[in-house]
Amino acid sequence: MALIDTHAHVQMRQFASDRAAVIAAAFAAGVDRMVTPGIDVETSRAAIALAQQYPGRIFAAVGTHPHDATTLTDAALAAERALAQEPGVVAIGEIGLDYYRNLSPHETQRAALVAQFGLARDLNLPIVLHNRESHADMISLLRSDGAGLRGVFHCFIGDIAMARDALDLGFYLSFAGPLTYPKNVELGEVAAWAPLDRILVETDCPYLTPTPFRGKRNEPRYVALTARRLAELRGLSEAEIAEATTRNAEAIFRLPATAPAATPGATSTTTPDQPAAAGATDAPPKGA
Ligand code: NI
Repeated sequence: MALIDTHAHVQMRQFASDRAAVIAAAFAAGVDRMVTPGIDVETSRAAIALAQQYPGRIFAAVGTHPHDATTLTDAALAAERALAQEPGVVAIGEIGLDYYRNLSPHETQRAALVAQFGLARDLNLPIVLHNRESHADMISLLRSDGAGLRGVFHCFIGDIAMARDALDLGFYLSFAGPLTYPKNVELGEVAAWAPLDRILVETDCPYLTPTPFRGKRNEPRYVALTARRLAELRGLSEAEIAEATTRNAEAIFRLPATAPAATPGATSTTTPDQPAAAGATDAPPKGA
């Protein structure tokens, strides 16, 4: 059983002293691949360096986070454009809106997001979205400026109506540590309800550590705790969740399918997807 941590900031300074050991522990625990998003130009560059150090195991996303939206100058956007064409880059992210912490003005956040929509469209890459207390604006911008884009609502937090908005636009929902927090009943309902072919798991490490390690630094190997909770909520085995979320991650990020086929006879088309926006057409069968 193998899992993909679709959102692991292992390039960040919180892992400076033991990064190689954290990555090795993840691989040993069966988290055999991960996607490492940037939050600005520097951390995007560091993510690419890791992707090139661990080819086929770590993949990078390039982007400027809404907290840092004021740093996305024309020069930074040009730098992102160049970086996003490096080997090992599979997405533009993380990008988005955050009206909770409000570390950048909303107008600046929206402009940075739309600029990076353009980058994703030009380079034909999926987007990794951060969306906190900003759902109405996010959906409205995706509708007005996001035509043709596909991607992931990273660390999805919300109710079924919000999830439906994202799914209707062709996006995937990625669940993180908060799914394991007992008080998040509504989120559990979403995770139990969402289509099996549109869900992912992630840690968002070093943040959002799942139960029972809350308060400690998060690491990619703990993604198994979120996957286990997802399996409980859906009445599936952990192996079934691992197989489905792996296939979904391979589809949305266009990762090469791993050599040992996960389930004999299971072809990994995502045909139940609505033809609507992206997902379906952008997820060619990977031959596994
Ligand atoms: Ni993140």
